Amino acid sequence: MSDVPVVPRPTFHFTPQRNWMNDPNGLVHDRGRWHLFYQFNPEGSEWGNTSWGHATSSDLQHWTEHPVALRFRDGEQIFSGSIVSTPAEDGTELTAYYTSAYADGRQAQSRATSNDGGFTWELDVDNPVLDRGTSAFRDPKVIRYTDEAGRLRWILLAVEAEDRQVHFYTSDDLRSWEHASAFGPLGPTGVVWECPDLVPLPLDGDPDDMRWVLILSTNPVGDDADRDGSSMSYVVGRFDGTRFTTDSAELVRLDSGRDFYAGVTFDNAPQGAAIMVGWMSNWRYAEAFPSTPWKGAMSLPRQLALHTVRGRPRLVQRPPAFLLEQLTHAARATVVIAEQPVELSLSGHSVLDLRWDPATTGNLSVRLHGDADACVELEHSGGTLRVTRRGSAAEAVHVDFPSTSVTEVATGGPVQLLLSLDGPLLEIFANHGEATVSNLVPLGRGPIVATVCTERRGAVAYTAVDVASDESIPDPAATPLHAPQDHPATAL
Ligand code: FRU
Repeated sequence: MSDVPVVPRPTFHFTPQRNWMNDPNGLVHDRGRWHLFYQFNPEGSEWGNTSWGHATSSDLQHWTEHPVALRFRDGEQIFSGSIVSTPAEDGTELTAYYTSAYADGRQAQSRATSNDGGFTWELDVDNPVLDRGTSAFRDPKVIRYTDEAGRLRWILLAVEAEDRQVHFYTSDDLRSWEHASAFGPLGPTGVVWECPDLVPLPLDGDPDDMRWVLILSTNPVGDDADRDGSSMSYVVGRFDGTRFTTDSAELVRLDSGRDFYAGVTFDNAPQGAAIMVGWMSNWRYAEAFPSTPWKGAMSLPRQLALHTVRGRPRLVQRPPAFLLEQLTHAARATVVIAEQPVELSLSGHSVLDLRWDPATTGNLSVRLHGDADACVELEHSGGTLRVTRRGSAAEAVHVDFPSTSVTEVATGGPVQLLLSLDGPLLEIFANHGEATVSNLVPLGRGPIVATVCTERRGAVAYTAVDVASDESIPDPAATPLHAPQDHPATAL
């Protein structure tokens, strides 16, 4: 809409230089480099012509954009999927599985391989290699599973989106697949299931107590679709190499904000870490969000762990090391807030860590405001965190854009909130990642003021850092490997 101010481009998140982007695809760590492929329209800033864009990073902060890796063809779009890295004679081989979305409505899984570290791809002549003859079979995620005999096997999960089911296949060679089982339906109706992942995590760090976390993205469909739009959930269970089982019939919300979708984890991350990246938008209004010439941003990479919280295994999502390091090097200040609120100035590409004890201060609120007619209000009260985005600039994005996100944030001790704000991307990590709230926030182009208030007189410790936009840290190894780019490489 014309009265929506254009939002600034993030500096420590990946956005394509121009055009439409949605889901992260083919996240893989290979030959010392992080690869991010993604749903991309090489020809426009709306969804369509779906291809896999490609970017790499050596530190998960600075990304170099490369030419399109897998391009749509007449009659076939390249939907979401994944990549695994395996040892090969002269380095590694990457195997990609993606959904071929054909013009006749059929969706089936196809395979491609790369022997040059992900820059050129050879399509399997037998594509599609996994076909159920259906029209919503998509988003293959290939994961590793070591069986009791110590043998590495491959598991492919893909959804029948409208059935709200995940189908599991097994393979020894990453070529031929055997159907092993299906899971679902479960939880709310009126949604499609998309972009599954299955992540093994030790409960409370105990390697003898491995649990498997089935991760799903759910998108409301139908005439009376839920106006909150897309969101992610998970269910904790066990996996025996063929079947996922769970005692819990509940899908737990993974991120309580409006803009975290299609998140999946990297294959082959060092030390087997589970690192997730999501798309920071929502199908309800993704095309209306006023960013240009880029349209779509990835979240911060988050490291997943599984902790017992209030007696139940819960995903914990930690901010990436590069962000925490920024805080380590900055000075922490403590303010006693009495009648007057405290105002902190931020560049708008900033990290703010706040700690307080509600037993002393009572409720705490933070208001973020810039030069646009919009604001974000965080209110912590009685173990609940509410995050509201409001104002005419928010209303102008889309009728369903103004929102209040609610999540539980345990009290009974000090509370910690880490706010990462990078232009229009706000990610809140509460109590070191026990809860997260990710939202697009059209606060304007200028600096941001954070106004902190407490209900009663009390101390609030804070660290505020503006993240330097050191523009010139490209991924050095990436550039010489290939021909001129259709998007000039930039470090973001
Ligand atoms: C999820 C999704 C996937 C699909 C892709 C198409 O956001 O709908 O299910 O593969 O986007 O771009």
